[in-house]
Amino acid sequence: MNRFSRLERLEHALLVVAFLGLLITGLSQKYSTYEVSRRLVDFLGGIESVRILHRAYAILLIAVVLYHLLIVAHKLYVKGLPASLLPHRRDFNDAWHWALYNLGVRKERPRMPFFNFGEKWDYWNTAIGVLIMLITGLMMWNPVAVTQIFPGQSIPTARLIHGAEALFLLATIGIWHLYSVFIKQFNFSMLNGRLTHMQMVREHAAVLDEKPVTRDAADMQERQRRFIPAATIVLGLLIAGIALFLSFEDTAISTVPREEAHIFSPQISAEEGNADVGESLWPTLRCATCHGEDAMTSLQYEAPPLRNVDLPFDVFYQQVRVGGGEMPAFSAEEVPDNYLIHVWTWLTSADGD
Ligand code: HEC
Repeated sequence: MNRFSRLERLEHALLVVAFLGLLITGLSQKYSTYEVSRRLVDFLGGIESVRILHRAYAILLIAVVLYHLLIVAHKLYVKGLPASLLPHRRDFNDAWHWALYNLGVRKERPRMPFFNFGEKWDYWNTAIGVLIMLITGLMMWNPVAVTQIFPGQSIPTARLIHGAEALFLLATIGIWHLYSVFIKQFNFSMLNGRLTHMQMVREHAAVLDEKPVTRDAADMQERQRRFIPAATIVLGLLIAGIALFLSFEDTAISTVPREEAHIFSPQISAEEGNADVGESLWPTLRCATCHGEDAMTSLQYEAPPLRNVDLPFDVFYQQVRVGGGEMPAFSAEEVPDNYLIHVWTWLTSADGD
């Protein structure tokens, strides 16, 4: 029996592409420290291009959602088809009946409608999940604008929800949906559009009892005539609104290049150093444990000899405050600025010994 039209299957395929694309480019950012993520990010051309790809897949998803809304509105309003995906009290009865059947309490399966309770759960789980992902995603897309209205905390919150809902969708769709469709039912109707009679009896027997609803052609034509302009206006407004959202900010795409640390201490003047003071300070400092008591003998980590080094004070100062290689950074509490002036004067004075 026919189940899904060609267009419905195409729509589903695009949804799958968007879902997988978003998943790959999203999880590799969420788990960016993992080796696989790093390889993936490298493979996709670096973090900037992963961010752009993630947004491109998001736009595809938005397009699929808009198309879906249009088609649903058309089916309900023009064709007069029943809202067959709305949850209904009978779905709970069916689920209960189904459980009893699986337990062997009831002998026959429930006669379920075109979309049974499991499929309705899949649909609404996906629909609500996509809505959550789009809202939180668009918030992160425009963090500056959002925090003008909402508190700053809303961006990390959106990020948390975005990541958690992504994992929830991955689990529910990746595990439950794929299992129930392919393994439990061996249902390929999204690929070939068809279900066998046997599958209909097992999963959708109620459809076999019903007569299909048809609206008369004149009424349908009349509704079609009203639908087209209304849908065009609503869709146009939606697209314009979303386009505005998407082009509002271009924050968070490019990574800021790592800045070189520049330490500036205007209050100290290297000319005031005294080599004799520096020489007597040196053995009291932790420096000597690596560079040696004479500042010429490496005791650890191949610390280089320092007497007569040709280093301007600010380079020397930076080395001490920031560290480098195996050498740790030293705070001004451990080695005050004026100590360093004296030490530097001693180290750089050629005849200082
Ligand atoms: C844990 C061992 C260790 C300690 C402690 C240490 N250093 Fe170093 N220092 C090194 C190593 C190793 C290097 C080489 C760093 C590199 O390869 O970048 C180095 C490099 C330097 C350099 C750069 C030399 C050059 O030619 O570029 C200076 C200057 C220096 N140390 C000064 C100091 C001073 C002053 C102290 C104390 C405040 C200190 N170090 C403490 C291990 C140490």
